[in-house]
Amino acid sequence: MRKKIIAGNWKMNKTPSEAKALAEAIVTKAEGASCDVVICPTAICIPAAVEATKGSNVAVGAQNVHFKESGAYTGELAANMLTEAGVKYVIIGHSERRQYFGETDETVNLRTKAALAAGLLPIVCVGESLTEREQGIMDDTVRRQTKIALLGVSAEDAKKVTIAYEPVWAIGTGKTATADQADEVCGIIRETVKTLYGSEVSDVIRIQYGGSMNAGNAAELLAKPNIDGGLIGGASLKPDDFAVIIGAAK
Ligand code: PGA
Repeated sequence: MRKKIIAGNWKMNKTPSEAKALAEAIVTKAEGASCDVVICPTAICIPAAVEATKGSNVAVGAQNVHFKESGAYTGELAANMLTEAGVKYVIIGHSERRQYFGETDETVNLRTKAALAAGLLPIVCVGESLTEREQGIMDDTVRRQTKIALLGVSAEDAKKVTIAYEPVWAIGTGKTATADQADEVCGIIRETVKTLYGSEVSDVIRIQYGGSMNAGNAAELLAKPNIDGGLIGGASLKPDDFAVIIGAAK
């Protein structure tokens, strides 16, 4: 019922010419995919990625968006700049933004609302730290992050949001949550969305897993009932591996 969504988070990798080549390789591999495919390069590589994916089934996403429309915010990008450049999705609240750049639940909420207002489709990241998991409060963390991210978002807009469950301890570490662990927390997130909006939204909202998803473990993760796709870092830079993950998202 929910179409799966596979998104590549390229993080701070690839120059514009390298991004062009990678995007072209992924376009070829993604032909005929039965899921939505998104690539998220750095901002400076967006024009190259948009050009390379033109007329294909691969959409381009940004890695962040500011919540104001314009003004004195050095180094930031407004939502309408992204849409005009051909961007369709935007990652919001990635744990690296939360960890290194002062992102909070409140700014995640502001960015989510600004993205939706401009017609961008947000991929909102939530996930517990290792300490939170060890202390048994992972549910509290993802509930809080989900509820605050969606504060003031209408039911109609909430349906356009993808939530990426990314346990911080699994990102870039090679440690994947087991398929059951990932499915359990994605289920908690879906329950949380249900308490906010009812099943009309919780049945359609897409919830991805992210954190060391790769060609070897994708099929098992993506077969779980609450996992509607993946947000992939390292493996999204390797077209052959990314193609296997896309193929596993049926
Ligand atoms: P990873 O990154 O696949 O390299 O663990 C995932 C992410 O941070 O989105």
